[in-house]
Amino acid sequence: MVYPHDQDTNPAQRPIGIFDSGIGGLTVARQIMRRLPGESLVYFGDTARVPYGTKSDRTVREFAWEDSLFLLGHDVKTIVVACNTVSAVALDELDRHLKIPVIGVIEPGAQAAADRTRNGRLGVIGTQATVDSRAYERAVQRLNPRLSVFSTSCPLFVPLVEEGWVEGEVPQMVARQYLTPLLDAGIDTLILGCTHYPLLKPMLSQILDPDVQLVDSSEEIAIQVQALLEQRGERSDSTHGARHFFVSDYPRRFEELGKRFLGEPVGGITIAEPWKHFRPAPMKGQP
Ligand code: DGL
Repeated sequence: MVYPHDQDTNPAQRPIGIFDSGIGGLTVARQIMRRLPGESLVYFGDTARVPYGTKSDRTVREFAWEDSLFLLGHDVKTIVVACNTVSAVALDELDRHLKIPVIGVIEPGAQAAADRTRNGRLGVIGTQATVDSRAYERAVQRLNPRLSVFSTSCPLFVPLVEEGWVEGEVPQMVARQYLTPLLDAGIDTLILGCTHYPLLKPMLSQILDPDVQLVDSSEEIAIQVQALLEQRGERSDSTHGARHFFVSDYPRRFEELGKRFLGEPVGGITIAEPWKHFRPAPMKGQP
């Protein structure tokens, strides 16, 4: 198969591709837009199949391939895997097989946490699939085997954030329940290992001891994307990049909720169903 990136287009002019299981990856798009306003972006949110965090590795890998191939069809110069679950489960595989750089959120988050901890005890929160994969533990331990990592999944955080329930008694009670074992373990640094959690930062800061530092993987990955483009001489020289948002279902909800995640209105949303392009057409006589 020949993808557009096999052609001779100047890489600096090509967009950055970002994908996520749905809306949460807009927190990553937001940080990339803040840091690299001249870059064009193509974002795909798989709103028809969200959540990924409760699915098996096999299914997440299959979706990750379909999402990545969709972005390649838009001639992207690099793929940013905004979804922690996909980064945890499928990043190595995508990176091994694709010709363009693929960056996930795990490495940058692990690096920032390893740099900032003072007592060597790190916490990670994320979806069930991210926590089960132990990807953050492996990444931290590759950087420094003396660090200890304590993880827990927080499945109620994603729906709470999507409902806009990010402040007050209910999210505080839920957070205390989830975080108590990590705090009992004496962590001084907490990695927010899920696209939605940056929106919980103000509430978490209220309930956590000020000595516990929060690491936001979306900020850290934006720094890494900038470094990568600079190193490859692929920074756009434009002052304001174009933005295209694709979702697989329910664009109206994406638009309504998206503003809180992106920090500005999300315009120009198009429906796309990547899996339809990559599945074989039904044979004659099949439905
Ligand atoms: N985007 C997912 C993540 O960062 C959270 C939502 C989901 O489970 O799909 O892991």
